[in-house]
Amino acid sequence: MKKAFIFDLDGVIVDTAKFHYLAWRNLAKGIDFDFTTAQNEQFKGVSRVRSLEILLEMANYKATQEEKDAWLVQKNVEYLSYIQKMDQSEILPDVPRVLAYLIEKQQGIALGSASKNARPILERVALLDKFHAIVDGNDVTTAKPDPEVFVKGAQALGAAAKHCIVFEDSIAGIQAANTAGMTSIGIGDAAVLHEADHVFSDFTEMSNDFLDTLIQK
Ligand code: G6P
Ligand code: MG
Repeated sequence: MKKAFIFDLDGVIVDTAKFHYLAWRNLAKGIDFDFTTAQNEQFKGVSRVRSLEILLEMANYKATQEEKDAWLVQKNVEYLSYIQKMDQSEILPDVPRVLAYLIEKQQGIALGSASKNARPILERVALLDKFHAIVDGNDVTTAKPDPEVFVKGAQALGAAAKHCIVFEDSIAGIQAANTAGMTSIGIGDAAVLHEADHVFSDFTEMSNDFLDTLIQK
C-alpha cells in the first residue's frame, strides 16, 4: 500500500552537521569558548535559535539580544558559504538508491527538517524534485521533539500518522516521530538512537526488502 516516507535532511540525506559545527565553533571562538565535536551532538535536530541558546549556556555567557541577533546572522552567513560549495558528492551513501526505490514503488516522499536552508541545500545536491512535499524550519513554530514538522509532512502527503515512516539521525527527531505515532527509523548510532523502532548505521545497511516490509506493513 502507499505509505508516507518522511526524511530529515541534515545527517540523513546530506552530511551538513560538519558545516553547522564549523560555523558554531568559529562563533564560539569569538567568546573564548572551545566548542567540541562531542558537544555538537546536542545540536543535531535543534533549531538555530535554540542552538545559540545552548552554546551560550555551555560557555556561561550572558549575551544581549543585539549580540544574539548579530550572531544568528553571522552563523548563517558562514554556514551558507559552506553549503554554496556543496554538490552531489555530499549526498550520504545509498540515499539516491532508497529514494529511487520508493519512487519506483509509488510511495509518498516528504522532507521534515528543522533547517530554514533545506530548499537551497536540496537544490545544490539536485534532489529537490524527488520530494512530493517539503516541510522545513520556515513552516513550523515548534521544534523537534515536538512532532509538528512530521505532522505537517503527513498532512501534505495526505497520510495518516500510522502510515508514516520517519528517517532521523537525532534523538529529538526520533522522539518527535514516536510522539506523532509514526514508525521511527534511526540513521546513526544504535546506542544514541535506542528510542527508534529500527536503527541502521546508514542507508547502505537498509535493503530494498526491508523497505518492502515497511511498504506492506
Ligand atoms: C537541523 C540541524 C541543526 C540545525 C537546524 C537548523 O535540524 O540538525 O543542527 O541547527 O537544522 O538549521 P538552519 O539551517 O535553519 O540553521
Ligand atoms: Mg538531522
